[in-house]
Amino acid sequence: MSLRAVLVGAGAMGAQWLDAVAASPDVELAAVVDLDGAAAARAARDRVPWATTLSAVADGADFVIDATVPAAHFDITACALRLGLPVLGEKPLTSNLPQALSLAALSELTGTLFAVSQSRRFELGLAAFKKQIVALGTVGSLTTEFYRGPRFGGFRETMEHPLLLDMAIHAFDTARFLLDDEPVRVYCDAYNPPWSWYAGDASANAVFRFASGARYSYTASWCSTGYDTSWNGNWHAHTAAGTASWDGDLAGPASSLQETISASLAAFVAALRSGQRPPTRVHRNVLSLAMVLCAVESASTGQPVLVDDALAAAHAAAVAAAPPDVAAVLRGWPSVRAGLLETG
Ligand SMILES: NC(=O)c1ccc[n+]([C@@H]2O[C@H](COP(=O)([O-])OP(=O)(O)OC[C@H]3O[C@@H](n4cnc5c(N)ncnc54)[C@H](O)[C@@H]3O)[C@@H](O)[C@H]2O)c1
Repeated sequence: MSLRAVLVGAGAMGAQWLDAVAASPDVELAAVVDLDGAAAARAARDRVPWATTLSAVADGADFVIDATVPAAHFDITACALRLGLPVLGEKPLTSNLPQALSLAALSELTGTLFAVSQSRRFELGLAAFKKQIVALGTVGSLTTEFYRGPRFGGFRETMEHPLLLDMAIHAFDTARFLLDDEPVRVYCDAYNPPWSWYAGDASANAVFRFASGARYSYTASWCSTGYDTSWNGNWHAHTAAGTASWDGDLAGPASSLQETISASLAAFVAALRSGQRPPTRVHRNVLSLAMVLCAVESASTGQPVLVDDALAAAHAAAVAAAPPDVAAVLRGWPSVRAGLLETG
């Protein structure tokens, strides 16, 4: 039987998710929600009910797809989890780490799955690259080179860290996937070349140390002219037995956004049906968000940042801000890292 999904957020990504739901043999659309009622009504197209709040159309739904703006992810997800509805959310998990930790605890408290759709994990070429890496053995150093010069207009051209906040999450999450390991420290230098058409820093060099001792280097710019890597970036993994490389499918066949989010939807449905915990569940995905936010902190202070320090500060802030039932779950974690990696 199909699972009934409520789509929250009827913007650009919402349209992509509607197509993915329409193409899925496992999912049917139950309703559309958007703060902007006219946008919700347009997306619902008289096929399904629409509303401006999730609770108005939650009855009879099986899960929620959250394609709202990042600032709304926390409230939408918290509302859904309290209603007992699993959530497949767009990246980034939330805008900050305390909110991310609270949602991990709420997912645990309600026994309700929350996973982030890291769609680039479903690139076909990535699976082949990971196979090469696993065959070679222990990685000493992993690198991504990402250079593009898109002219988006809109919010990306005015935000403080467009590259790190809006794009780097994809590469950072991919690095965790490729290394099967978690980050412990980052130093990041972010800057804006003189010719940049962005107000904030459009370029960055970040070096992460992972728990195994492997280093991950990210060298990237969103205002590059005359040399474009693929949207996935150009990757190398250096091992004792040789080097594995992936150009991110520069010459194709790169997976389309529709293909990757459809695969992400299928993986989420499979997890709901099997009860197995997917790799991008909230607890694990906190570490991808932490890579981004720790890189931003390092770029702002000029100092290296220990991920555990950022997690400890976020944990204290989350405990202080959360309702008593969520705060009790957070307090029960033996350490933040253990709460994320062992409990969740
Ligand atoms: N995976 C990818 O490759 C990818 C690509 C682009 C965007 N995204 C992510 O998708 C999300 C949406 O991006 P977009 O480009 O579609 O934005 P958008 O601005 O086009 O659409 C967002 C929609 O959310 C609605 N909204 C905002 N707050 C809401 C609330 N509280 N309740 C209900 N609706 C609300 C807005 O009215 C708008 O219609 C973002 O988190 C973005 O980072 C992911």
